[in-house]
Amino acid sequence: MKDERLWKRTKMSEKKLHFATRAIHDGQSPDALTGAVNVPIYLTSTYQQEAIGHNKGHEYARLTNPTRDALEDNVASLEGGTSGHAFASGMAAITALFTLMKSGDHVVCSDNMYGGTTRLFDQVLSRYGLTFTYVNTSDVDQVAAAIRPETKLVHIETPTNPMMAVTDIKAVADVCHTKGVELSVDNTFLSPYLQQPIALGADIVMHSTTKFLNGHSDGLGGVLIGTKPEHAETFRFVQKCTGGILSPFDSYLLLRGIKTLAVRMKQHEANGLAVARFLQKHPKVKRVYYPGLDNHPQHELAKRQQRGFGSMISIETGSLKNADRFARALRLGLFAESLGGVETLVCHPASMTHAAIGQEGRTKLGITDGLMRISVGIEDEADIIADLAQALDSI
Ligand SMILES: Cc1ncc(COP(=O)(O)O)c(C=O)c1O
Repeated sequence: MKDERLWKRTKMSEKKLHFATRAIHDGQSPDALTGAVNVPIYLTSTYQQEAIGHNKGHEYARLTNPTRDALEDNVASLEGGTSGHAFASGMAAITALFTLMKSGDHVVCSDNMYGGTTRLFDQVLSRYGLTFTYVNTSDVDQVAAAIRPETKLVHIETPTNPMMAVTDIKAVADVCHTKGVELSVDNTFLSPYLQQPIALGADIVMHSTTKFLNGHSDGLGGVLIGTKPEHAETFRFVQKCTGGILSPFDSYLLLRGIKTLAVRMKQHEANGLAVARFLQKHPKVKRVYYPGLDNHPQHELAKRQQRGFGSMISIETGSLKNADRFARALRLGLFAESLGGVETLVCHPASMTHAAIGQEGRTKLGITDGLMRISVGIEDEADIIADLAQALDSI
């Protein structure tokens, strides 16, 4: 039992309130000791215990911390899961996810994912006897065909980074469950405001909270949201054993960021759509990858399974030289890795996020040297478009 004086953890909204309300309140109620409306940052590594086997619900901060607990409850509620666990980065969360596996297990995953995820699978986890099959998960038949008796997990990103391909979560979940396999979804690109994979049948959701959940580009983090008691047990045990947990300060920043997730995502969505339409008509842009455009191959699916299209857009500029000119000419947009912040961020996947998969891997996926990825921020739409227009003029 946790001491009510320390931090009264909210029972989650009993009758489900709407998303924007839960983002602000779930996991958090005013501090029972002082009435403070924000969850305090509990800067402590340990907790005094009254006697052997008697404590206030906390023993050591690697295991639990009230600030992190509040955050974990909050994200579990927003994704519609039963447990949340927070880690020091998105990669730390994915690493923890794979402790559900053991040597000899097989995983099917999207052929187009964040390059760091592919690097973890191919260069680290494969050394521990896990095997991976990469398929185009937008084609459900390819997922079904790749599942083998030793397959334990299908792991997907949708929309994918950076090609924005969309996978039918419900169809893949149905295939997985028929074959006794779990489905995990990296929901980083849309956030739970725009897509809720668990409601569509996913078993586990992960996020790099560094992106839209935090929203302010001021902290790394990752979360895993589970739906079964064994997920909660394993992920808590992994936090305890491996220690890659989110700090109290970063947990606080994340809780603070999530409070405005709904309003931020509405603006990201409006700006994303406006920018995509502008880019689609621009003569210097050879191709626009954005699920919100009618000509995107999975536009209808995105409309059906997402609450919006988000603000991640990739464009083909035609060459490395054009991409470089475009990057150098930006005045408002920042040429930087990462995404999901309030500021517009532009990155060059071939040399940044997807450098690790090599030229051959990139060619297979269509990640050319001229491809640029834009994370449209929430600045004024007219200013973002004017900046992109003047940067495109330099090509
Ligand atoms: C889709 C996706 N998943 C996971 C990660 C890894 O997250 P982090 O950088 O927080 O470790 C990233 C990072 O860019 C990402 O884009």
